[in-house]
Amino acid sequence: MHIAPLSTALGAEILGIDLAGEIPDQAAADIHAAFLAHRVLFFRDQSLSPPAFVQFARLFGEPDIYPFIKGLPETPEVIEIIKTEADTKNFGGSWHSDTSYMDCPALGTTLYALETPAFGGDTLFANTTLAYDALSQGMKKLLGSLAGVNSSEKGYQGGRAAGMARLDAMKDTFEAQAKTYENAHPVVRTHPETGAKSLYLNRSHTLRFSGMTVEESAPLIDYLCNHMIRPEFTCRFRWRAGSVAVWDNRTTLHHAVNDYAGQHRHMHRVTIKGDRPC
Ligand code: SIN
Repeated sequence: MHIAPLSTALGAEILGIDLAGEIPDQAAADIHAAFLAHRVLFFRDQSLSPPAFVQFARLFGEPDIYPFIKGLPETPEVIEIIKTEADTKNFGGSWHSDTSYMDCPALGTTLYALETPAFGGDTLFANTTLAYDALSQGMKKLLGSLAGVNSSEKGYQGGRAAGMARLDAMKDTFEAQAKTYENAHPVVRTHPETGAKSLYLNRSHTLRFSGMTVEESAPLIDYLCNHMIRPEFTCRFRWRAGSVAVWDNRTTLHHAVNDYAGQHRHMHRVTIKGDRPC
């Protein structure tokens, strides 16, 4: 197994391992250490049935059920992310950390590419520890006392069901009756495994700071959301069919780029249970 970093900020490609086969304990420990060090890992040329994909996710924790989209019948942890030739919107097309609106947001997410466009459809990632470290002492002190209120409805005018109905291939699997989730989490969270501090808010879900109005919060949320995605904090992954990614939602943001109009993209995704940010 060989680890090839993608950028100084984050991301590494792991070469020389077949994820569908038996993964020896030492290799699993090395992959987990690389996950903590590089925050997002990429694998190429894999062939994973849904059960094998769930088994891969188990290397990082306990696979979870995503509350808004029905999973596959035999493996409900696996959801399909599909954009058709006719769709104009995509899923995950703005910077976010998965399920940050839940009481215990996803620790990580795994994504497996079945069909990819001839060009476009990359995913961008940002390292939110580097973003925190780059702030002034004064700003760090201010943020240390703030919590961000995250909502599953932000950005979905008319609700999530209406938003998902615009995604042709996914609307039938959407749980229209799923409730709205809203939870406040510290804007600076400490990673439970590494102890590193990271910014923990995002443009897709963070409505406001606790105890403040949306209007009062907006300028600082906007500043921090722009700051976190400075190019030197990011990496970009070009998918091919058979590519796999796994990222740490506790210390990264990601953005699925919607730049492949008229083409098809089909992924399988599993989220991994996390704990309450602190
Ligand atoms: C997501 O936000 O999980 C989707 C990422 C992608 O499709 O690239």
